[in-house]
Formats: sequence, structure tokens, C-alpha cells
Amino acid sequence: MAPRHYTSVLDLDRDQTLAVLARAAKLKAAWHKKRKASKRLRGYTLAAIFEKPSLRTRTTFEAGMTQLGGHSTYLGPNDIRLGARESVADIAQNLSRWVQIIMARTYAHSTITELAEWSAVPVINGLSDQEHPCQALADFQTLQERLGNLEGKKLAYVGDGNNVAHSLLLMGALLGLHVSVATPEGYEPHMEIIERAQQLAAAQHANIEATWDVQQAVQGADAVYTDVWASMGQEVEAEARRSIFAGYQVTPELMAATGKPETIFMHCLPAHRGEEVAAAVLDGPQSIVFDQAENRLHAQKALILWLLDR
Ligand code: CP
Ligand code: NVA
Repeated sequence: MAPRHYTSVLDLDRDQTLAVLARAAKLKAAWHKKRKASKRLRGYTLAAIFEKPSLRTRTTFEAGMTQLGGHSTYLGPNDIRLGARESVADIAQNLSRWVQIIMARTYAHSTITELAEWSAVPVINGLSDQEHPCQALADFQTLQERLGNLEGKKLAYVGDGNNVAHSLLLMGALLGLHVSVATPEGYEPHMEIIERAQQLAAAQHANIEATWDVQQAVQGADAVYTDVWASMGQEVEAEARRSIFAGYQVTPELMAATGKPETIFMHCLPAHRGEEVAAAVLDGPQSIVFDQAENRLHAQKALILWLLDR
């Protein structure tokens, strides 16, 4: 039987996503109550492949496997040199003989889909240039905690139309939120992602909007989200991007422009205070960024159990 994968938000449909989120909430409550590892994945190993740095993704997959009774093994950029020392297909076929699940953080999204193509065990996208679906799961778990039923709520994303923006657009659309993305001209999310999100949103009577107008995007928003202006791999562009994105900083004034005093602020982290977000917002009372970070742990445990059908 073909394994289940999570290479994109769209590998799970609406009901499956809601089921994973519900399980994530239960796993979180259970962990807070007992702080005791389960035996569910005893003897199971996850291989965690990283072409890029990580704090949250690495630690939450490792801690998550520990809490489920299993183990995670870290394969960094210099360990396996994906595609250079050995082909992606050969690595996937080797790992499939030893481990029960693979997680990978890559540059090219095609590396994730190629791993999935050749792997006999589930493959999870731990961030590629195209998407960051595990982050979206944790973010929507966090939004549910704060806002309850998410249908008809508005999420505004301000900044670079990147991997994080893509996964938020797709999952927001799937779950019936209005999602408005404000970027500078030339930094919009990919058109095919916007169009797919618009199709999905139409079925939920929700709106998906991409604009250059940041004031318009945040109007009426229940949550304002931003991410770094230069993603991993774009370091050489960082200086140029600082001036291009200057008008897209999330400031206390922009938070006030939502017209709702209770609007929450979100960021996947790591954050650059004084660039994409003012320190007063990131460290202020509207910020829920560490809840998002915590929920990576629980959302991914729920995802792993779903992928392994356990
Ligand atoms: N948000 C996130 O994925 O963080 P890391 O890059 O530290 O894993
Ligand atoms: N867009 C960022 C997210 C980091 C978690 C990046 O790709 O570097």
C-alpha cells in the first residue's frame, strides 16, 4: 500500500486537516496534564533531513518522537549531502529500509516530492522553497485556541509572498477563513497558489485576496501574520529587500489599523525585530508567537500519528 505523505497542505483535505488539528489539541492537553511519554511509537525511528538551519523544526520533531515513545535521528547538510554524495532516490530507498517516517527541510520543493516518490514510508515537508505545511498546522491550531471556529474569520499576512504565505493561503482557504496577503510588487505569492486557494475558498464562501495595499489587507483582520523578508537561501538579497519591504513592517499603528483592539499578532519565527515587525508588537500583549512555536510539537505529533495510521 502506498504510504501517506505530507509534502503540501493539500495532501490532507478539509476533514483530515480538522481531524489532525483536533487530535493535536487532545495531545497538547494530555501532555500538559501528565507530561508522560506514550508507548504508541515504541521502536519507531524518524529520519530528519536538513539542508538548512532550524531551531523549532528540529527540536519539535525530536521531542515529539520522544513523547510518542519513538526516536528521531538528525541528518544534517554535511552528513548525507542530499543529491551530491548520493541521489535523492537512493537515499529515500535506503531510509525506507530502516526508519518508519522521513521529515525533510530542503531548498527545492522538488527534492521533497522526489523523496516521497521513492520512499516506502511517509515523507513530511519540514519547509521547502514552496511550502511550510507543518508551520501552518501549528498556526491554525493556535488560531483555533484563540478564535474558536475559524470559518469567516480574517487572517492578514503582510510581507514576502513566500513558503509560509503559501501554506497559510492554502490552509486558510481549506478551513474557510478570509485570507488577505499584502506584499510589495514583484513579491506576491505564486499565482497558481493564489488561484488554488481561491478555488478552495469559494467552496467555503471565503475570500482570498492578494494586494500591494497593506492598510487594505489588515482592515478587519482577527490575526496579522508576518515572516522574515529574506528567507533561508536569500541572504544575498537581504539588504536590498530591507528597503523594498520598508513599508511592510508590522508596527503598533498597523495593528491598530485592523480596527479591532483584540487582533492577534503571529510570526513563525525566527523574527527580526525592527525589520518585518516592531519589537513593541512582537513582545507585546497581542503576540502569540510562542504559542505557535509550542504547537509545532503537538500538531506534528498528531500529523505523524495520522500518517502512520496509528
Ligand atoms: N518556524 C520554523 O520552522 O523555525 P525553524 O526554522 O527554527 O525550524
Ligand atoms: N520563510 C522562512 C521561514 C523560516 C521558518 C524561510 O524559509 O527561511
